[in-house]
Amino acid sequence: MKKTFLKAVLGATALVATIAPLAASAEEVINIYSFRQAFLMQPLIDQFQKETGIVVNTIYAKKGLIEKVKAAKGKETADLILTVDIANLMGAVNAGLADTIKSDVLTANIPAEFRDAGGKWFGITSRSRVVYASNERVYQDAITYEELADPKWMGKICIRSGQHNYNLALFASMIAHNGEAATQKWLEGLKANLAHAPKGNDRAQAKSIFNGECDLAIANTYYMGKMQTNEKNPEQKDWAKSIKVIFPNAKNRGSHMNLSGVMVVKGAANKTNAVKFIEFLSGDTAQKLYAEVNFEYPVKAGVDASDLVKGWGTLKADKLALTEIAKHHKRASELVDIVKFND
Ligand SMILES: [Fe+2]
Repeated sequence: MKKTFLKAVLGATALVATIAPLAASAEEVINIYSFRQAFLMQPLIDQFQKETGIVVNTIYAKKGLIEKVKAAKGKETADLILTVDIANLMGAVNAGLADTIKSDVLTANIPAEFRDAGGKWFGITSRSRVVYASNERVYQDAITYEELADPKWMGKICIRSGQHNYNLALFASMIAHNGEAATQKWLEGLKANLAHAPKGNDRAQAKSIFNGECDLAIANTYYMGKMQTNEKNPEQKDWAKSIKVIFPNAKNRGSHMNLSGVMVVKGAANKTNAVKFIEFLSGDTAQKLYAEVNFEYPVKAGVDASDLVKGWGTLKADKLALTEIAKHHKRASELVDIVKFND
């Protein structure tokens, strides 16, 4: 079964991916497209298969999955998409790819702010976009996003591309809170404070602090945990040691949050199993695994963040609706270009 799915998807042309009919077998299956990495998903999938006997076929990719599902529209395709960032979730919804799901389990497990009111997407974990600050060179333990545009940080800040969805979501939240004009001015100030043009991923910014290229960086919380526990690349432990996490705007609206989420694909052949899988991901066992394996914040009330994550300090989450962030995504991207943020 697994082979058929993989062969059909990977063997297809680059853009068109369909899954061969699965009707020949009586075996219960789900076919998943995942933007989330295998090391994270596999323990969850193993546990689900053990509990339910449902066979899970998974295609992992960094990008292009939504395009693949779109290209395969009308044919038999994936049952479920696992992704990160509200822009990706809304993008798939707006492309008409998401089915509407009604589940009492999901309603009970996932707080309303982390799921679509119409049942088209469900948040599974959340993460905060925080400030990494040099332990040696930054003396303050509190900061605001607004303050990152203060000339006192001239030449001291590192960040990945302004057009990356993680940054666009943060910039969109700034538009929602402070308005467009103020956000443009803020982006100009932030750009003026950069040590060099945006480049690399979030972890590369931590390395730049370790190297002394910059004192502050903007990055997601869980990368700190991944660096702190990285046995494969132990130099990342040193990067992490050179940094403290500061949760921005702790004294007012709270730190910007993003989420990882999931949706059932419209026309899914294995819809019932797909819903079962999402219910499993929102339950205690899976939520605990997400917290301990990937250092994310569980969405389900009563499931704690890992001790390592708690060690970074108390998170006060910005409660801004994710739909508000999605609404300003496009304008945020335009502003990045207008201020030539990446140049
Ligand atoms: Fe990430």
